Amino acid sequence: MTDKILILKGDGIGPEIVNEAIKVLEVVKSKFNLDMQTTEGLIGGAAYDETGSPFPDESLKQAQEADAILLGAVGGPKWEKLDRALTPERGLLAIRSNLELFANLRPAMLYPQLAGATSLKEEIVSGLDIMIVRELTGGIYFGQPRGIRTLENGEREGFNTYVYSESEVRRIAHVAFQAAQKRDKRVCSVDKANVLEATVLWREVMEEVAKEYPDVELSHMYVDNASMQLVRAPKQFDVVVTGNMFGDILSDTAAMLTGSIGMLPSASLDKNNKGMYEPIHGSAPDIAGKGIANPLATILSVAMMYRYSFNRSDVAEAIEKAVGDVLDQGYRTADIKGDAGKTVSTVEMGDAVVAALSK
Ligand code: IPM
Ligand code: MG
Repeated sequence: MTDKILILKGDGIGPEIVNEAIKVLEVVKSKFNLDMQTTEGLIGGAAYDETGSPFPDESLKQAQEADAILLGAVGGPKWEKLDRALTPERGLLAIRSNLELFANLRPAMLYPQLAGATSLKEEIVSGLDIMIVRELTGGIYFGQPRGIRTLENGEREGFNTYVYSESEVRRIAHVAFQAAQKRDKRVCSVDKANVLEATVLWREVMEEVAKEYPDVELSHMYVDNASMQLVRAPKQFDVVVTGNMFGDILSDTAAMLTGSIGMLPSASLDKNNKGMYEPIHGSAPDIAGKGIANPLATILSVAMMYRYSFNRSDVAEAIEKAVGDVLDQGYRTADIKGDAGKTVSTVEMGDAVVAALSK
């Protein structure tokens, strides 16, 4: 059966980094003799400019027909002033929500070659290997009611709703426990149960689901402490499971532990492991078009695609090994420069990975 991959380049550095990932797709296609077909679609500001919507119906249809989706990034100053419902970010939220991609896996792993590129002391981060499991289609990102309203006294008020149903918590809990079973068998659930009822229930459901996984150890941590522990002693974590907003924030912190946010891939999965794969960094408008963005997070997202959606860990490992090889060879984009290596462009980094893979 042909694996159908939809490619959504998006905005900012999106097209540049995705182009490098496409080269990698082409190499693994011939190297592993994969039956794969790619199509391109529109999302974000690019989609808005062309169709008037950040996630047009045509893109939804393409996404529904695809087996997996590779996404670059969305957003940029050009679209910031748009009506809230039309911003590029809404397009990204819409695709996550429409496809029910509730399980967002964000692995933070330090490549030993990059130990010098992180802003933390080497001994704090060396050997780091954390999996953040972020709930992606609920919580305050989607809760209703939401909006900006004008009160009787004429003052405006912004409001959002932090809401999680038991079933939403339960399904992300299962993902976290099952991920932990393949790793160090520890789950840390991050909440704010000392203040927010939504997370009191979150904690209770985590405890319930934990009973089905006696081989996995569950602990709980408040989000403020978790943000501190992530920079104080990050290696204490194995799997971290948390809600949508806390996961957004903590995964950026975790990214910096690995040297650069330009290194972190992600998978967003539905209940059948159909997935969308994207780097966790954004569209970086400040460096868009300069050819200096790091394509490795996107290339590593292709690896995750083969692991999770296509059950080909051999392909995933080959891509991951190629990334390790180019780092060994000293190739560095500006963001991971640290004190070592030769600074290369986005395209040169992609070429280096392709060369390592073709060997
Ligand atoms: C992420 C991003 C998105 C999010 C934005 C672009 C809507 O920050 O994937 O982490 O907040 O989820
Ligand atoms: Mg984010």
